[in-house]
Amino acid sequence: MGKAAALATVQRGGKVLLVGRSESRLAAAKSHLLEKVPDAIVLTWACDASDETAVQELAESLDEQSEPDGNGISWNGLVVSAAGRAPHGPVLQLTTSAARSMMESKVWTAYHCARYLGAKLDKASTGSVVFVAGILNRRPGINCASLAMANGALEGLTRSLALEWGPKIRVNCLSPGFCDTERFDHMEGEQKARMLENTAASLPLLMVGQPEHMGEAIYYLLTAPYCTGVILDVDGGHGIRQYANPMTDPMRKL
Ligand SMILES: NC(=O)c1ccc[n+]([C@@H]2O[C@H](COP(=O)([O-])OP(=O)(O)OC[C@H]3O[C@@H](n4cnc5c(N)ncnc54)[C@H](OP(=O)(O)O)[C@@H]3O)[C@@H](O)[C@H]2O)c1
Repeated sequence: MGKAAALATVQRGGKVLLVGRSESRLAAAKSHLLEKVPDAIVLTWACDASDETAVQELAESLDEQSEPDGNGISWNGLVVSAAGRAPHGPVLQLTTSAARSMMESKVWTAYHCARYLGAKLDKASTGSVVFVAGILNRRPGINCASLAMANGALEGLTRSLALEWGPKIRVNCLSPGFCDTERFDHMEGEQKARMLENTAASLPLLMVGQPEHMGEAIYYLLTAPYCTGVILDVDGGHGIRQYANPMTDPMRKL
């Protein structure tokens, strides 16, 4: 979703700085963007955003980032879509450390980025922050409590910062439903196909989301001049889906 948001940005002439933990995945994401928009300005920075000091270092480096012509760059948008592998299972069986790791990779990453990078947003124009939470807070799934907790925390952070940082900086949050992104690449092919099929069949729109749906929605929130404190559901109708028999909930089987 982060890469799709970056693509939506460079397609409209924006510059992006991609952040993730792996140099090689960042290089692949950069090549993907340059393939689509050859003259785009795409910078990268490898760090683990759950590490507060690493995010502080990134924030300090921003003053030195420059375009190829040597001009400094002033940033006016921050998108945080990081999350590690989601622990899945009943609360009584999951280890507390697994649940805690979800909070580290999804909530504390966002908090650190807001705290140190939010302060760097260009206040001469208007700045904008977009977090990415998820449907499982307000429409929980069985065996997904730690994701629900993380999503709920991000919604709270969104509304609180929108109050604290207005009017110069708007703060909003995308709440995606199921989306076919690289986060499921570790799954075995047939198992993944079955999961996508089951989920699509349960949704009013009968399809799972694609990264570009989320990238465009993030870009909308980044640039929507009269939105702040908004949690935008982009979920194919997941929030209103029905089960004749809750035992057929596809999340129960994973
Ligand atoms: N896909 C879905 O169905 C779905 C549904 C609802 C909500 N969401 C939420 O939407 C957000 C984006 O999901 P996605 O599907 O795009 O996930 P993804 O494909 O797994 O991408 C997550 C990105 O975050 C980076 N990342 C993870 N931990 C990090 C850390 N500690 N520091 C810096 N970067 C980190 C990853 O790169 P590295 O691993 O290289 O660091 C990766 O680029 C997540 O918060 C997810 O929970 C997803």
